[in-house]
Amino acid sequence: MTTTEETHAVTSQRSTTEHVTVHPAWLPGAASAAVGRRRVVVAGDGALVSTVAAEVAAAVASHGGSWTRLEAGAGVADADLVLTIAEADDGPAATPDAVVQAECDESFRFMRDAGSVVVEAASDAGLLHGWFHVLRLGEAAFDGPDADEKHAPAAALRVLDHWDNVDEHHTMGQVERGYSGGSLFYAHGRVREDLTRVDEYARLLASVGINSVAINNVNVHAREARLLTDDLMDVARIAAVFRPWGIRVHLSVSFAAPVTLGGLATSDPLDPQVAHWWVRAAARVWGAIPDFGGFVVKADSEGQPGPFAYGRTHADGANMLARAVAPYGGLIHWRAFVYNHRQDWRDRSTDRARAAYDHFAPLDGQFDDNVVVQVKYGPLDFQVREPVSPVLAALPRTRVALELQVTQEYTGQQKHAVYLGPQWSEILRFSLGDGVVSNLATAGGFAAVSNAGDDPFWAGHPFAQANLYAYGRLTWDPSLDPIAVLDEWIAQTFPGSPVEVGEALHAILDRSWETYEMYTTPLGVGFMVRPGHHYGPDVDGYEYTPWGTYHFADRDGIGVDRTRATGTGYTGQYPAPWCDVYESLETCPDELLLFFHHVPYSHVLHSGKTVIQHIYDTHFEGVERVEAMVTAWEGIAGLVEADVAERVSERLAEQLRSAEEWRDQVTTYFFRKSGVPDAGGRRIY
Ligand code: GCU
Repeated sequence: MTTTEETHAVTSQRSTTEHVTVHPAWLPGAASAAVGRRRVVVAGDGALVSTVAAEVAAAVASHGGSWTRLEAGAGVADADLVLTIAEADDGPAATPDAVVQAECDESFRFMRDAGSVVVEAASDAGLLHGWFHVLRLGEAAFDGPDADEKHAPAAALRVLDHWDNVDEHHTMGQVERGYSGGSLFYAHGRVREDLTRVDEYARLLASVGINSVAINNVNVHAREARLLTDDLMDVARIAAVFRPWGIRVHLSVSFAAPVTLGGLATSDPLDPQVAHWWVRAAARVWGAIPDFGGFVVKADSEGQPGPFAYGRTHADGANMLARAVAPYGGLIHWRAFVYNHRQDWRDRSTDRARAAYDHFAPLDGQFDDNVVVQVKYGPLDFQVREPVSPVLAALPRTRVALELQVTQEYTGQQKHAVYLGPQWSEILRFSLGDGVVSNLATAGGFAAVSNAGDDPFWAGHPFAQANLYAYGRLTWDPSLDPIAVLDEWIAQTFPGSPVEVGEALHAILDRSWETYEMYTTPLGVGFMVRPGHHYGPDVDGYEYTPWGTYHFADRDGIGVDRTRATGTGYTGQYPAPWCDVYESLETCPDELLLFFHHVPYSHVLHSGKTVIQHIYDTHFEGVERVEAMVTAWEGIAGLVEADVAERVSERLAEQLRSAEEWRDQVTTYFFRKSGVPDAGGRRIY
């Protein structure tokens, strides 16, 4: 038996980095109290077992318990909690040499017998997940009836994408669509020297099961491209910080890198010199970072280079890269977000919603095994309400990943309190073709754009932390109830708070996605945001631009006809029953009506209201709901820490101002278009 003194410092209290006091999010010191006052044993080998041991050491040091570290296979002493690697027939399943193995078994068993708990995992990564499971349960881990539960993630890949630019003076800001300050990874045009916050961030992500992170923007500019070459050792430093938390690092790369970085005349995927350039690039990357995850590619999309320039398909492009990284077990995350962003608004036959399916469905079966085709949840672009993308069901012989957006680009930009768990849950559980979406994505897993930055609250709005938390939890287990997930987040973030705090937070957040939808774009029509930055209302903002998003409102009606009978035919991309459900006005759900149909303002919804009255009512009610959020918050602001109270109050004030602006612009716009007065006689300008 050996007892090890662990020195690794675990962030359990507020840390101070570069003069910023950082909020501990859902892992404050109090979170480890239940474990920290008990007798704990950690047993087994593997790099991540040392991480677990360091966590346990810090917890017992803070809360007065005791702990022991045993070698693998040693007899387990009397303890309240034993965290151990399972003995496999062929020896312990720990991962060797600190290398996180590709898609290792991350499962763990949780056993409780008369108040004593044993967590047994197949791998050290599994043990880390098991540790955080116990931490999340707190006292309840030890309190309940005897149990023997198996926990395993729904998919092996659970990724966060950072849209971070190295250059902080980039026109799109340092974090494209970032609302939480600067990048956690880069400062002053290079990778940060001090990666303390990356370590804290990695711990937060590990605690909710995230196991991969792409560290740069999918729009790869010249400065970011060099991460693949000149700055590779800095990427290796970042990977070294993520590694003890079981998280692999990925890079976004430009399809034109052989030209822009390599000086070749072409990046044609079928040119042997191009393929060779990528083979050498991959050898350099995996030479420096043996557990590197792979590349993310945005090709032929919004101005990014791609295989179309050479008359090649996206399978040609993805497979060429896949073969370069295959010897290392590397992956290519190839995004399906491909559409014509230079269309003419006068051309009504082109429908952006159709584009991803039209490009990718014919390629099913042509992608190599280590290509993951990453599909946004809807056919447009992370709107508050879209139908689930039919592409998810159109590629049965391809590894498909579902892409979500944790950063609130179109959902209030972390100024508005919008808990997205219910939206994601609805998408994950949606039944499409051969299965529910979470099952369709099992082979490719889940990806999402991160909402974290160097803001002291990580996500700008303290409540936006709940979205980061929920993304991890729901992609580990898509069957979880998003409101129960929110409850977990509240319990951990505000431990020991009076019961009113939890009640008020539920009152504010449970239906906040629906509330946001009410005061912004109605009935699935989408956009209506200010072009460029995408914050605030501009009903006609995109109506006459080349980006291809329209509502077609005139004096008689509104909506986009995407039917097979008279419209763009988009409904035909869905398997049964949705191709018919969406096609018919009788069966199309109200919340998606204007996505699929152009109807008169007098059209009566299933709810019994006309479209125009629905627009008026939801916009007024949406603002009233935000007023109620403010009131609920005022009731408890004095019960939470002062900096949290101040930040939330400031954000809620802006949410209310913005919601009123949305209400007034949208109701006025449609009153002026339609001439139909509000039956409620409320103020319209
Ligand atoms: C949206 C977003 C862009 C982003 C793009 C993408 O269009 O506004 O900033 O680059 O999505 O997903 O690639």
